[in-house]
Amino acid sequence: MPKHLLSIDDLEKKDVENIIELSFSMLEILSRDIKKVPTLRGKSVGLIFFEPSTRTRVSFETAAKTLSSDTINLSEKGSSVEKGESLLDTIKTITALGVDFLVIRHRAEGFPHILAKLSGISTINAGDGKNEHPTQALLDLFTMMTRKRLRKVDDLKGATISIVGDILHSRVARSGIKLFSKIGMNVILVSSYTTLPKGIEKLGNGNIKIKTFFDDEFLKSDFVMALRLQKERHGNFYFPSDKEYNEIWGLDENIMVTLKEKNKDVVIMHPGPMNIGVEINSEVAYSEHSAIFEQVRNGVATRMAILYYLFSHQTQKTG
Ligand code: CP
Repeated sequence: MPKHLLSIDDLEKKDVENIIELSFSMLEILSRDIKKVPTLRGKSVGLIFFEPSTRTRVSFETAAKTLSSDTINLSEKGSSVEKGESLLDTIKTITALGVDFLVIRHRAEGFPHILAKLSGISTINAGDGKNEHPTQALLDLFTMMTRKRLRKVDDLKGATISIVGDILHSRVARSGIKLFSKIGMNVILVSSYTTLPKGIEKLGNGNIKIKTFFDDEFLKSDFVMALRLQKERHGNFYFPSDKEYNEIWGLDENIMVTLKEKNKDVVIMHPGPMNIGVEINSEVAYSEHSAIFEQVRNGVATRMAILYYLFSHQTQKTG
């Protein structure tokens, strides 16, 4: 059981199974009339978001509050970082506030690792640049299971997920590749050569295939996850235009018809926020095959499970 969740590498398969099992329990709590349990009463979670976020920040806040924890919010805008305070001093300040958990999103890859080491506080990586987004990968895994009504992580062994789009700039893809291959899923990456980092397949556990176009193997996928074109990280032009990108790699109605012909139960996913008409079209995003809003709902349950799991580490150490 890890103290921090900075990368999928921090998790053994048993940890993944435990977090998924806990996510089912948390989902049950969230279905109650009174959505509150005292598990983290008297604890506090620092939510430090130095990059924009809707889903991750709000779901962590909801998760913490459902577990009766207090929350402290800090964003770059409005904090003393805007007045020139160094990140090290910001860390010292946050540590001095005496929070029990830190949830950090930052544009600098590896910053959550530095924060964890210097603060000594149980730290969760909520997205560091294009490096990793481990809680997203866990909620995506949980969503595949709820969607397919599976109860054991091993039930997904041998299933195929295709991740389509801007792999180069995607922390969601990096954590997903690591997690899905760790549990024995087959992972297909579909992307233009311009957004395929060299050696990306080495992140996985031997079950990774790379394609630059949609082919028959892709069309038989059990799950297809579109990635957002991360234009805020594009220093160069990677594609001639959004329109051409959409025509080649976008999930549109035509590709959806073919996907359904090959696998009538195919599930469409997207971590959000979506660029409708670029990497995914509305007929696909809002279709009955889409699990995109289940991913958002499941984000609260999975993040409750992660907070609880790390809390168990703390109580084990002190108990
Ligand atoms: N998927 C995800 O991380 O979304 P936000 O940027 O809205 O948190």
